[in-house]
Amino acid sequence: MKRAASPLYVAAILALCLPAAVSAQSWSDQAVDPAADHPEVPVSYEDDGRYYSEDDSPTFNIGDDGTVDWLTFSGFRRYHSECHVCHGPDGEGSSYAPRIKNSAVNMDYYAFVDTVVNGRQNGNSVMPHFGDNKNVMCYLDDIYVYLKARGMEAVPRGRPAKKATKSDLIAETENACMG
Ligand code: HEC
Repeated sequence: MKRAASPLYVAAILALCLPAAVSAQSWSDQAVDPAADHPEVPVSYEDDGRYYSEDDSPTFNIGDDGTVDWLTFSGFRRYHSECHVCHGPDGEGSSYAPRIKNSAVNMDYYAFVDTVVNGRQNGNSVMPHFGDNKNVMCYLDDIYVYLKARGMEAVPRGRPAKKATKSDLIAETENACMG
């Protein structure tokens, strides 16, 4: 005679599966293959020096001679003043905090923003919230775009050698945000 699995049995199986499911969700641990198809990365359109992919999330633009768009350059600077102490130089990660250059490719833009604005805690592992820090909030797209470029290996480690000039739109947005 066949019996339905008892709820207790099902709960025990779920509990056993849980640790694997949680670690699979760690965006930073998932490898990035720059040669693979990443529809949210290539530039779909430009708005005065800001670049967007087809899903309207900000993305980077690197010229043939290695000139990076302004946001990528600015993101390099902002990342290294606000994030690298925990996440390591060039987004490579540290023993303390994850390799977020991979997260910026694997994570949806809004999930990335949400994590930085609100922070996150996983036991002793704490990502601070930056929602009230203008030096991060006014440059969040810059940091995201820079890390996305790093995750795709589109820019080497270190300070980008050549950068595009800052457009009027970018300057205006920055001034309005910083107040
Ligand atoms: C005080 C140390 C610290 C600083 C500073 C910090 N982070 Fe974090 N961050 C962490 C830790 C630790 C985690 C992992 C949290 C967890 O285990 O859930 C994390 C997680 C993240 C994640 C999620 C990664 C993933 O794959 O799920 C993102 C995105 C992130 N940080 C972005 C940033 C950005 C951008 C900055 C700079 C504005 C920053 N962090 C500054 C410690 C830090």
